[in-house]
Amino acid sequence: MANADITPVGMGELPLINDLYNEVFRPGRDLSFFERRLKGRRNPLLLVAHVERQPVGFAIGYENKPGTFYCWLIGVRSAYRRAGIASQLMEAISAWAADNDYHTVRFECFNRQRPMLRLAIRQGYDIVGIRWDSDNSTNLIIMEHNLAEDETG
Ligand SMILES: CC(C)(COP(=O)(O)OP(=O)(O)OC[C@H]1O[C@@H](n2cnc3c(N)ncnc32)[C@H](O)[C@@H]1OP(=O)(O)O)[C@@H](O)C(=O)NCCC(=O)NCCS
Repeated sequence: MANADITPVGMGELPLINDLYNEVFRPGRDLSFFERRLKGRRNPLLLVAHVERQPVGFAIGYENKPGTFYCWLIGVRSAYRRAGIASQLMEAISAWAADNDYHTVRFECFNRQRPMLRLAIRQGYDIVGIRWDSDNSTNLIIMEHNLAEDETG
């Protein structure tokens, strides 16, 4: 189990996140992809995971609507997977969201993103719906984590 350092970073670190993204996701994107999506968002949260000072993973989220925080992207470099790093990133998002008065964390992912689906179930997320993604001509699974359940156990 890696013990990653999970650090919130500012928008100035978007180029680093962009590099990590391009290592993990296809197609690759440029900086404007992130800048456009985050522009005008309330409470953008950028997290970078480091192991032995190497950046190995990232997460990006922002407010979806009052009370609900949206985890847009999470990725871990392939050589560092199955060591609990994404779990640490998700726990950090939940802790940050709870501290900032959100009651729910939401994310969406494709059926093909099986590791993410498994990870989310393991992290206590519920499947709350699906929606058609016309850009990719496939369904997105919507998952939510009720943070109040963490408090009540
Ligand atoms: C999804 C992803 C972020 C998981 O990162 P990770 O650091 O390997 O995840 P963790 O080590 O915290 O996994 C925790 C648990 O999730 C499940 N899990 C994660 N990856 C899995 C896999 N490939 N197969 C089966 N179960 C998996 C397991 O239950 C795992 O616990 P275990 O290793 O004790 O069995 C990583 O695989 C990734 O970057 N994938 C490509 C990008 C992506 O699809 N992102 C999600 C959509 S935004």
